[in-house]
Amino acid sequence: MKILFVCIGNICRSPIAEGVLKHKCHQSKLDWIIDSAGTHSYHIGEPPHKSSHLICEQNGIDISYQRARQFNESDFKKFDKIYAFATDVYDTLIQKANSESDKSKIILLLDELYKQKGKSVKDPWYGGFDDYEDVFEEINLVCEAIINKHFN
Ligand code: 4NP
Repeated sequence: MKILFVCIGNICRSPIAEGVLKHKCHQSKLDWIIDSAGTHSYHIGEPPHKSSHLICEQNGIDISYQRARQFNESDFKKFDKIYAFATDVYDTLIQKANSESDKSKIILLLDELYKQKGKSVKDPWYGGFDDYEDVFEEINLVCEAIINKHFN
């Protein structure tokens, strides 16, 4: 399985998901390819936000090696599933898709977790550390759901 997580900046939300799912795959001995990207170019080359780094570190996950990159249309070929963190990200990815096959790979991330569809992971960019804690918990749950879905 090749999974790409996409948010806006690739410095707050999606780097946490990349770190958490890689960690869970390692624990479950799953040989998946996992990456993350942003729809926008604002933060290309930057490491994850310090609060994303800290909440992961507190949970035994190192994401310090990650560097932000922008989503590229070639990602549609490279990945099986492209998880959008929010509806605005989902819409941007659908606009970039060149085929029905591309579009079929785009999934709103929280649709894997909640019965109620159409939910977005809250953007913690303007928030405090408690927002990053909430985002981490939600990402932890959805990554668990993604792995469980694979085994069931
Ligand atoms: P992310 O958060 O999409 O979770 O990485 C953001 C980071 C930066 C900005 C927006 C969201 N920004 O506008 O620079």
